Amino acid sequence: MKKLDKKVLIVTGASKGLGISMAEICASEGALVVLAARSRDELEAVASRIRSLGSEAEAVVTDMSKPQDLENLVIRTLSRFGRIDGLINNAGVNYVKPFLEITPAEWQRVLDVDLTGSFLLTQLCARQMRRQGTGGSIVQIASVHTHASLVGAAPYDAAKHGMVGFSKAAAVELAPFGIRVNILSPGLCETEIWKEIVDAAPSEKECIDYWNANIPGHRLIKPEEIARCCVFLLSDDSSCITGANIFADLGMTSLLVSREPYASKVIGGE
Ligand SMILES: NC(=O)c1ccc[n+]([C@@H]2O[C@H](COP(=O)([O-])OP(=O)(O)OC[C@H]3O[C@@H](n4cnc5c(N)ncnc54)[C@H](O)[C@@H]3O)[C@@H](O)[C@H]2O)c1
Repeated sequence: MKKLDKKVLIVTGASKGLGISMAEICASEGALVVLAARSRDELEAVASRIRSLGSEAEAVVTDMSKPQDLENLVIRTLSRFGRIDGLINNAGVNYVKPFLEITPAEWQRVLDVDLTGSFLLTQLCARQMRRQGTGGSIVQIASVHTHASLVGAAPYDAAKHGMVGFSKAAAVELAPFGIRVNILSPGLCETEIWKEIVDAAPSEKECIDYWNANIPGHRLIKPEEIARCCVFLLSDDSSCITGANIFADLGMTSLLVSREPYASKVIGGE
């Protein structure tokens, strides 16, 4: 039997990057998927690809920073599939700017999408799951930024840490109803973000060398690998896991500082 057989699942940010893989792989595991993002054309393209493979998919244009769009997303999901069993809060915006230069409007924009939108949608979906009385699973896509910061990422760091905070509160309060809430924190993945990082570096080689030194796995994470972690967290395979922040990062957050670029002698011993 497929791991998400007939489970109704909302995936936000499903028009690009990780969200596309999440929607496609969850659908291949039997989920009935509702895709949410701002671009109708991109969403419809993903939905029709999923349908062409024999699964069911619905596209709902949604801006995560607009509460009425989130209510509409839930209403459309219920009118199409009648219930909600899972949510992947994946939509997110990154923003890199020196701490002292961030304006209140820039700060607010990142928090509106990455934190407040995720909170409100979690609340709406969990209310519906509680009404249904058959539990549910919610996965928040945070980041390795919930372990430590990177230069220039204050609003993103704050938003992703906030996701962990409200998700732990939700996990505790919703556990009696069989509704699980977990956080999945990816490391560096092969999406547009990586292309932007390479373009911003003086050369591709310098960029790859630098990141290889900071990722013990010496490679980028494939979107399908993150999607597979989501399948696990949405399925009954993870039935006793709630309130966890799981790092899918090839060891990045286990590394304190990168290895010295010179050969060191053995220290200590006899
Ligand atoms: N790619 C990585 O290396 C990486 C690492 C750690 C965490 N993440 C997180 O994973 C998630 C997906 O990342 P990605 O690399 O696929 O990003 P991406 O930029 O390729 O895709 C982001 C998605 O979110 C949607 N989105 C952005 N603002 C929105 C809004 N206001 N309303 C609705 N949808 C909106 C976009 O349309 C897109 O579908 C993000 O939350 C990101 O923070 C990514």
